[in-house]
Amino acid sequence: MLEFKTIEDFDLNGKKVIIRVDFNVPVKDGKITDDNRIVKSIKTIKYALDNGAKEVILMSHMGKVKKEEDKAKNSLRVVVPRLEELLNMPVDFIEHTSGNELISDLKNSNNRVKLMENTRYEDLNNKRESKNDDNLGRHWATLGDIAIFDGFGASHRDHASTSSMFKHIECGIGFLALEEISKIEEITNENTHPFVIVMGGAKVSDKIAVINNLIDKCDKLIIGGAMAFTFLKALGYNVGKSLVDDEHIEFCRDLMHKYASKISLPFDVVTNNGVKTINNILDDEMGLDIGPETVKLFKENLADAKRVIANGTMGKNEEEKYAVGSREIYGFLASSDAKVLVGGGDTASAVNDFGLTNKFYHISTGGGATLEYLGGNLGSIFEILKSSSVTYGKNKKRNKEAGA
Ligand code: ADP
Ligand code: 3PG
Ligand code: MG
Repeated sequence: MLEFKTIEDFDLNGKKVIIRVDFNVPVKDGKITDDNRIVKSIKTIKYALDNGAKEVILMSHMGKVKKEEDKAKNSLRVVVPRLEELLNMPVDFIEHTSGNELISDLKNSNNRVKLMENTRYEDLNNKRESKNDDNLGRHWATLGDIAIFDGFGASHRDHASTSSMFKHIECGIGFLALEEISKIEEITNENTHPFVIVMGGAKVSDKIAVINNLIDKCDKLIIGGAMAFTFLKALGYNVGKSLVDDEHIEFCRDLMHKYASKISLPFDVVTNNGVKTINNILDDEMGLDIGPETVKLFKENLADAKRVIANGTMGKNEEEKYAVGSREIYGFLASSDAKVLVGGGDTASAVNDFGLTNKFYHISTGGGATLEYLGGNLGSIFEILKSSSVTYGKNKKRNKEAGA
């Protein structure tokens, strides 16, 4: 298990503290539709302020910036009002992202909390952020005395603001990121059984590493969502027009061959033409949710679970008529006694829509980052933070207790 210096190990008094957060929140018509990432970042920001930080400089990416036109729709300015509300104090927005202009923006700003514009604006200059440009990382590092990594959702990206910057400055981890990895590590490594993995969603390729990493540790792998059709096709069923990840049929066939007794697949599905058992799907039908018998079967498989990691929805849940399977399974998990970790961007937003936000052991703020971490692919930030962990300071005991 990784060991880190945390924000609590630093004397922040009078210091300029850079915090790399992940404020890449969904925005629709200029409004934030899910502010979970901002809400969960507040503890670290407040801690820095309460412990005397002279300045807190927040950095984050937002969306992808490939052309000049991408800038306006990906400006982090949209985050400022909600941030001010949550912190209950004014926040200065820093418009420039590098060079003397950035330095003078910072000098001219009076409030203690500053939010720099989208780090990916620097991608318009030879993709400096996304290509982990060391000069850019070094430049950003000069803006502060200490850098704290709290942007768990971006931890799988080796970019200048998540990787190289941290090589040039004293650094540690924030509360959000520490909680994420502690909970992922705890649930994957504790020795309670049955341990069940629930997978759904659209693409097998996104989940292969997770399956490979956890299949031997788990007692049961439940597969729903569009993903199930790739497995069913691999077993020779006609899946009609259902989504299939053809490149991964072989992977699914091998997995079924090796782990048939562990894997649970749908028995019936809701198609555009009503409920069908899996051996009765017609060529022009598309499977869009798990059927009622499958809901029962999956609940039986989950009934005595002690630990569950769930990622991906059971159907095309954005359409109410195909949301039943997801609502039933996530509702069942929410009311069960099992320790349940929910990961994935679309899955987190589905459980919020179902009104289940506070009903789980943990809902991760990460999408790709959580899957990569569960798959054992850790971004370089964790190695950098680890090598910066010379001492434990006052948190040695707490770190050990958290398993971090
Ligand atoms: P996450 O973002 O949580 O990792 P995914 O992106 O893998 O989850 O999966 C969620 C998406 O999968 C949802 O947008 C949902 O509409 C889609 N999906 C699930 N089942 C089906 C299906 N049977 N047919 C089409 N789309 C599906
Ligand atoms: C996410 O939303 O998953 C993270 O913020 C990472 O964003 P990215 O996929 O654009 O790098
Ligand atoms: Mg998704």
